[in-house]
Amino acid sequence: MSISGTASYADLAATLPQPVLRAVELAERLGFDQSCRPEHGRLLQALAAGAAGRIGETGTGCGVGLGWLLAGRRPGVRVVSVEREAERVAAVRELFADVADLEIVHGDWTAIGAHGPFDLLVLDGGGNGKQSAPADPDALLTPGGTLVVDDLTPLTAWPPTHLGRPDTGRTAWYDHPSLLTTEVRLAPDLATLLATRRP
Ligand SMILES: C[S@@+](CC[C@H](N)C(=O)[O-])C[C@H]1O[C@@H](n2cnc3c(N)ncnc32)[C@H](O)[C@@H]1O
Repeated sequence: MSISGTASYADLAATLPQPVLRAVELAERLGFDQSCRPEHGRLLQALAAGAAGRIGETGTGCGVGLGWLLAGRRPGVRVVSVEREAERVAAVRELFADVADLEIVHGDWTAIGAHGPFDLLVLDGGGNGKQSAPADPDALLTPGGTLVVDDLTPLTAWPPTHLGRPDTGRTAWYDHPSLLTTEVRLAPDLATLLATRRP
């Protein structure tokens, strides 16, 4: 999540894949400002291109991150995204009505469990360990599958802390015995965590 995520697409229209451009326009129309930033979106696009099996997302928002995933995914790879806000679900279903092998599920993020396991799972609205319990990678990822947690402040010290306390939103992933976890700094103020399930 990025508070200024949608606004960060200003002036980029000519460089954006079609699904992303359409979703950014929807986010602007609905006044939704929490879209993922383009730096993260380009990472999602590249990761999606490497997924041979299913791709999942929690927290569809207005479909900007989903647009990047669709722009990168291989033909025939199914994408499932879960969103709890009915208005966003309806709007994104309409936006991508012509896209094959895509399902937008209305419900709590835990509904993603019925659609896995995933080669790539983006946790952007529940299950990311920030405000709620982290998702179970053994249940949701294929062996060798990767999960993504966006919108972190770049690490400057180890062990990671948040407001002076252990940053359990991060350590849950680093300490998980099934995962190999690292972070990528995408901008001076933005990092993304990647965790791959051990084969
Ligand atoms: C940061 S925004 C998602 C941005 C989007 N993934 C993108 O890249 O543009 C988070 C979204 O998650 C949804 N959300 C938050 N908690 C949720 C939950 N427990 N289950 C399902 N959706 C949730 C919010 O309604 C919001 O639309």
